[in-house]
Amino acid sequence: MVTYIDAADAPMKNTGQIRLYTPDDFAGMKKASQITAGCLDELADFVKPGVTTQAIDDFVFNYGEERGVYAATLNYRGYTKSCCTSINHVVCHGIPNEKPLREGDIVNIDVTYIVDGWHGDSSRMYPVGAINRKAERLLEVTYDSLMLGIEAAKPGNTTGDIGAAIQTLVESNRFSVVRDFCGHGVGKLFHDTPNILHYGHPGEGIELKPGMIFTIEPMVNTGRPNVKVLSDGWTAVTRDRSLSAQYEHSIGITDDGCEIFTLSPGGIHKPGL
Ligand code: MF3
Ligand code: CO
Ligand code: CO
Repeated sequence: MVTYIDAADAPMKNTGQIRLYTPDDFAGMKKASQITAGCLDELADFVKPGVTTQAIDDFVFNYGEERGVYAATLNYRGYTKSCCTSINHVVCHGIPNEKPLREGDIVNIDVTYIVDGWHGDSSRMYPVGAINRKAERLLEVTYDSLMLGIEAAKPGNTTGDIGAAIQTLVESNRFSVVRDFCGHGVGKLFHDTPNILHYGHPGEGIELKPGMIFTIEPMVNTGRPNVKVLSDGWTAVTRDRSLSAQYEHSIGITDDGCEIFTLSPGGIHKPGL
């Protein structure tokens, strides 16, 4: 049984009840999310062959520092970086390091800043120089699947409608949806209820209500959906080493649809495409 609770009355821990947020809360999420989106915009010109993912992490750290905000991943459950950088067959949670990016790579950069307690969580794919046609098609399909999922995010629909919209587009393009990671409630907590699956059937799951805030962040593989986590405890890769892509937005359900908090202020929704 799903229950809903006024966000202001809810305890800080994840109790399984779904919080419903006020217009003021939406404004807080928007402010945090726009700082995240501004950083993702600026990274478009920064990502090129020869740049290390550690340099990207430093960029994200400094961007926050200059604005007096903190990256949520830093010291989160033992994670020690300001963002995740997931290259090629890395599905998510890639850890920035000193290895330079190479022409033809595709890299997801996932950033979350905490602003006045609110978490703005978003990620985009960045082509490194020229990429091949299959990689380009993967990025387009993954982005389109996120936006179709967002179109399904409205009152009266369910979480299953979101997943079904994403899965249908992905599989009609002969790609696959990763099952082992999902979107999540977000707000004053980084990861809260509900889970937002990126696959499923229309009408299944939880009914969407105005005031809900969560992420949608489909991970799409060119090969099989199966993933494994490397011995560093974080890096998730495709088992068949096929290419993987992800885009993520933080959104809030409104009376007639949803507000995308993390929309690119500069219109750089799909960097490099
Ligand atoms: N930003 C990721 C998400 O979209 C979570 C990263 S947690 C980390 O939910 F610890 F791996 F950074
Ligand atoms: Co997220
Ligand atoms: Co994220």
